[in-house]
Amino acid sequence: MSRTKPTVVVTRKLPDTVETRMMELFDVRLNVDDHPFTTDELIATSAMCDVLVPTLTDVLSAEVIAKFNPRLKMIANFGNGVDHIDVTAAQARGIMVSNTPDVLTDDTADMTMALIVGVPRRLVEGARMIREDRFTGWTPTHMLGHRLAGKRLGIIGMGRIGTAVARRARGFGMTVHYHNRRRLQPELEAEVEATYWESLDQMLARMDIVTIHCPHTPATFHLLSERRLKLLKPSSYVINTARGEIVDEKALIKLLQDGKIAGAGLDVFEHEPAVNPKLLAMNNVTLLPHMGSATIEGRIAMGEKVIINIRAFADSHALPDRVLPTHT
Ligand code: DGY
Repeated sequence: MSRTKPTVVVTRKLPDTVETRMMELFDVRLNVDDHPFTTDELIATSAMCDVLVPTLTDVLSAEVIAKFNPRLKMIANFGNGVDHIDVTAAQARGIMVSNTPDVLTDDTADMTMALIVGVPRRLVEGARMIREDRFTGWTPTHMLGHRLAGKRLGIIGMGRIGTAVARRARGFGMTVHYHNRRRLQPELEAEVEATYWESLDQMLARMDIVTIHCPHTPATFHLLSERRLKLLKPSSYVINTARGEIVDEKALIKLLQDGKIAGAGLDVFEHEPAVNPKLLAMNNVTLLPHMGSATIEGRIAMGEKVIINIRAFADSHALPDRVLPTHT
């Protein structure tokens, strides 16, 4: 790159402080009305910029990337998950990809914990009862839920967020179990007092609450398949703040309806932003609009990561958060 400012297109509205800093540093085109870009718009945009800053609402498939103008040299994703970007296709076209890891770990773990507490303790159901003026007074059997302390939490995917959830769950007196492609280092496993299960099937059958923290890749699509969901105890709960595609949502709904799973806390959906109306009809399901990492502090930190990666690109340095193709 020359010393001239890189030209950057941002596909969605970002916090003001992030946009202002970007305007100071780069030659930027912002999305003032925050409309989601169409595929044609994304392709047309590639001819106008060196760097595209997309979010998870922009699907950059191999077909789309194949139509990108060779001018585009970097995709600086505003977000951690890159399942909407075909990283292999980007690499083949000489386009570097970066993301924003770390900075949304605590916020996502907090929201996961809110669901882990809120679903068995029927938090949303109780709040709704008050608002609908249905609270007629305390009785010993009123709104009984389930205690967390002593329950087994099964974490699927023990990366940064999974580990942060494990630490929090220990504070609530839960016993931590996990399934991961790789076992944790012994010191970390000992610190979070976690039990490793090489077999996901075996772990699922023994857990009280299962929470998902792996990325969505071809290998994890429907990882919680109908067969695996059927392994869960009827008293168990499923929490998902990762990606909807990891769970066979149709099968989950059927098992919830049949009382084969006790409840669920979902911040993400298989066909997002569409939410299956059958989920809306269930009292034992807490639904959130993909807000696991939605704090202003987190979004600003994500913006800073995007800026740092673009600056590294402009200076021809290695990208601190470069994403390379995975072959899973
Ligand atoms: C991410 O960054 O992948 C989150 O899901 C967006 O909040």
